[in-house]
Amino acid sequence: MKTAITKLFGIQHPIIQGGMHYVGFAELAAAVSNAGGLGIITGLTQKTPELLAKEIARCRDMTDKPFGVNLTFLPSFTAPPYPEYIAAIKEGDVKAVETAGRSPEQYMPALKAAGIKVIHKCTSVRHSLKAEKIGCDAVSVDGFECGGHPGEDDIPNMILLPRAADELKIAFVASGGMADARSLVAALSMGAAGMNMGTRFIATKEAPVHNNVKQALVAASELDTVLIMRALRNTERVLKNKGVDELLEIEREKGAGLKIQDIHEQVAGVYPKVMIDGEMDAGAWSCGMVVGLINDIPTVKELIDRIMAEAEQIIRQRLTGFIDGVEVPKPARAVA
Ligand SMILES: Cc1cc2nc3c(=O)[nH]c(=O)nc-3n(C[C@H](O)[C@H](O)[C@H](O)COP(=O)(O)O)c2cc1C
Repeated sequence: MKTAITKLFGIQHPIIQGGMHYVGFAELAAAVSNAGGLGIITGLTQKTPELLAKEIARCRDMTDKPFGVNLTFLPSFTAPPYPEYIAAIKEGDVKAVETAGRSPEQYMPALKAAGIKVIHKCTSVRHSLKAEKIGCDAVSVDGFECGGHPGEDDIPNMILLPRAADELKIAFVASGGMADARSLVAALSMGAAGMNMGTRFIATKEAPVHNNVKQALVAASELDTVLIMRALRNTERVLKNKGVDELLEIEREKGAGLKIQDIHEQVAGVYPKVMIDGEMDAGAWSCGMVVGLINDIPTVKELIDRIMAEAEQIIRQRLTGFIDGVEVPKPARAVA
């Protein structure tokens, strides 16, 4: 399949793996890129620019296909040395960066001077237009369903994607709630040139996380995520667990007066406990509603091949079948 996104990044399939804290290591990024998508290393999971440089080199050893690095700009007391992270990306000859969190405007000159393609992930049409204006090459339009930070507008992809299509000149991918061929074809129908998946890629053989995490994703339904930190205007969609129950209790008690310090224990340092040690009740970690569509733990290649084969089937048989008046079965539930 060829779209503006496959062309932009020089990839075979219009599928991107979004940056994920403590998940987006070289193993996963390389597996996605080797399977024809665009794998992304999560920059800030690497504690220093030197460590990111090593992770990029590790990924380079595992794939000769294009891959990218995620740079997340989030409010923090001590800002990470972003220019040095960008230097590591440039020196590692990485040609794609996924930015997220805040506008990458101040870093665009450095990224562009290095010949890097920038795809900015954002949750609204106005932020997408801003990304287009400051010279981003593409946008990852992240709907309310998404795992992680859906912003504060609460617009699901059924509305957000066609709105983005109406306004944007640059290409965009659909992000949030994407899991299978049905997602991809729907996203393409609504004007996207591909899709970005987060949660779905965690439940794959190559994702370098504890098996408990993968099993939790297979076991959970679409009812098992919840929004936290609304009062802080830093809303995050996470998988329910005991730590999150405690956090919600604190949020109920504090109401609008909630401060980040009140929930420090349930949000700080949780990712290594969950992703490395498999402590599933440790606290808040991002997870999308799409978890309700995850029923298996395939290899990344099996997952991507299945998506592309079934997408073709949906387009060629089901959709044209409607036009031709031929009776066609509905697409099956995907299980390896
Ligand atoms: C465990 C996890 C960690 C994530 N960490 C980051 C991150 O550090 N930076 C970022 O830009 N997005 C992060 N995301 C968001 C993903 O890149 C992606 O946009 C999102 O998962 C898409 O929604 P989906 O989960 O429904 O596919 C994370 C998502 C998950 C599930």
